[in-house]
Amino acid sequence: MKFCYSIFTYFIFIIFRINLTFGNLHRQFSPNIRYHQPTNQSSAFNYSFINVKKLKGYILSYTSPLADFEVANKTKCVKECVKTEGLCKSINLITLTTDGYQCQILAHDIYTTPRNLITQSDSTHYIITNKCMKSPCGKDEKCVPNYIDNTFNCYNKPSSCSEVKQLQPLATSGFFNITLNGKRVQVYCDMHTDGGGWMMVGNYSITQNNFSNPLPLPVGDIESLDQVSTGNFILNSTHLPVLEGWSPIKEVRFFCYKPSVGETMDFVTSQTLLGINFKNYLIGKFAYTSSWLNNAQAPTAFQKLPDDDSSWLMEIYNLGIPNVKKDTRLWNHIAWLSGLKHYGLYRDRRECGDYNIFEPQVGNLEQIGKWRFYVR
Ligand SMILES: *[C@@H]1O[C@H](CO)[C@@H](O)[C@H](O)[C@H]1NC(C)=O
Ligand SMILES: *[C@@H]1O[C@H](CO)[C@@H](O)[C@H](O)[C@H]1NC(C)=O
Ligand SMILES: *[C@@H]1O[C@H](CO)[C@@H](O)[C@H](O)[C@H]1NC(C)=O
Ligand SMILES: *[C@@H]1O[C@H](CO)[C@@H](O)[C@H](O)[C@H]1NC(C)=O
Ligand SMILES: *[C@@H]1O[C@H](CO)[C@@H](O)[C@H](O)[C@H]1NC(C)=O
Ligand SMILES: *[C@@H]1O[C@H](CO)[C@@H](O)[C@H](O)[C@H]1NC(C)=O
Ligand SMILES: *[C@@H]1O[C@H](CO)[C@@H](O)[C@H](O)[C@H]1NC(C)=O
Repeated sequence: MKFCYSIFTYFIFIIFRINLTFGNLHRQFSPNIRYHQPTNQSSAFNYSFINVKKLKGYILSYTSPLADFEVANKTKCVKECVKTEGLCKSINLITLTTDGYQCQILAHDIYTTPRNLITQSDSTHYIITNKCMKSPCGKDEKCVPNYIDNTFNCYNKPSSCSEVKQLQPLATSGFFNITLNGKRVQVYCDMHTDGGGWMMVGNYSITQNNFSNPLPLPVGDIESLDQVSTGNFILNSTHLPVLEGWSPIKEVRFFCYKPSVGETMDFVTSQTLLGINFKNYLIGKFAYTSSWLNNAQAPTAFQKLPDDDSSWLMEIYNLGIPNVKKDTRLWNHIAWLSGLKHYGLYRDRRECGDYNIFEPQVGNLEQIGKWRFYVR
């Protein structure tokens, strides 16, 4: 999000080096902590200070601020921030219906968690002035201020959900703009499952049972990754090695659920040699290996994630299928037990732990279900 800082009011708060004795006030900070170091130790003006800019009508939304308490006036809130010696990175000041304000001292700012800044009419968000306000970094870089010594760092803009996660450890799942080969691409990141950092590369759903031959699979390219929101998009696997070149892929994750089967599958390629080789096959970097068929070791290529309540793990014997077209590798037969349990999307088959070959007379073709594909 971009702001025109000049339209917001600008304040300076100074704390002189006096002995502040607050005692042990609930959830407030101990006094006598220096923030910006005075430039001249022998100066008569031996003080700590911050400059702040107000974003009126905004709040940087966090459920657990560093401190959260009522104050009689705004000055008191900003002074509390100064006393944290850099732990405080921004402030929310919420006007109470009674006299006074709710003062929230935050360990985050709009640079690391821009998505948390939302409008809220009774709140003002205070940014500590910093060098990033002058946009010193390159076009493809992100600026993160360091408030202690008033410097900044430029980071490459994230090119994957796992990099977003590193920059914004508290980010919640949702859509993010990442930079792929200099281009902005909006992607969905699962920031929750197994530590988060998963980029969704396929979201396919059947919302109604339909006993006719399903429509062709909705295959698209990297620029259209935001189409996962439709529940009707899967990335052309041919593009995965390209994606991998811009944003290394260590793991592939497969999720599916079909009420008619009744088990949630959520598994990820493991870090065993078989798991890594098979992951490299799925993302188009490795040729198919016939030893992946009828192989008792096949289940060791994957690990179950916590929400997987299926019984598949020790039962599958086959990974991938020979001679599959490169553009369908990721989602075509990721794992299977011949004629019984198949996982993935393939021509007219939509399988999730079942065997759903074309049998219109049986009417088991297009049954309600959801399939999700992720990389990390
Ligand atoms: C200024 O503050 C620092 C840190 O508390 C202290 O070491 C120094 O003696 C102070 N200087 C003056 C002139 O008070
Ligand atoms: C520090 O402050 C003293 C007293 O005000 C002054 O004489 C001295 O030149 C200052 N030093 C610097 C580096 O600004
Ligand atoms: C702000 O409130 C503090 C006590 O919370 C008080 O000491 C101070 O004088 C007040 N300042 C103004 C400008 O009202
Ligand atoms: C991505 O960038 C576009 C264009 O600036 C913007 O409209 C969109 O809201 C951004 N998406 C996210 C998730 O921030
Ligand atoms: C069932 O599938 C056919 C072929 O894909 C499609 O034309 C039809 O609209 C679908 N019916 C429903 C109710 O979704
Ligand atoms: C995936 O598709 C479903 C529709 O079937 C949709 O409700 C869901 O929000 C989509 N997931 C994402 C992350 O967009
Ligand atoms: C996948 O992408 C390749 C290369 O861009 C293209 O030739 C192929 O037709 C695409 N496949 C599908 C199913 O869209």
